[in-house]
Amino acid sequence: MEKLLALAKENLKNSYSPYSHFPVSAVLELKDGTIFKGTNIENAAYGLANCAERSALFAAYSSGVRKHDIRRLLVYTDHNYFVSPCGSCRQVIRELMEDDAEIILANNKGETKVFRNQELLPFGFTEADL
Ligand code: THU
Repeated sequence: MEKLLALAKENLKNSYSPYSHFPVSAVLELKDGTIFKGTNIENAAYGLANCAERSALFAAYSSGVRKHDIRRLLVYTDHNYFVSPCGSCRQVIRELMEDDAEIILANNKGETKVFRNQELLPFGFTEADL
């Protein structure tokens, strides 16, 4: 956990957030210890912003990673409170991580809050509904 937190903090500088000035960093850890990182990437067309959580997951999936490979995702912002994944990210996390995988929220006080994937999006729409 300490290592993931340190990586997430260090990665915050890579956020491209000139509009919100709200950098977010996410670190994805695989079961074999491999790390993928993501940040929020914004755009002058504001609606095209990609959140840090999705950036990390998409980077991993783009390299061939699949949900059974993933252990946990840590989300960090430089605030003294917890920032929680948005609805779009919850939907993507729901599909791209295992139901009981951990999503860890971390703040700049060193505090963490751990959720299971299914807790973040109860009664979510999934491939099972199709
Ligand atoms: N953002 C994330 O990257 N992750 C979250 O969990 C919440 C919001 C980003 C989107 C946007 O670039 C900025 O934070 C402000 O909403």
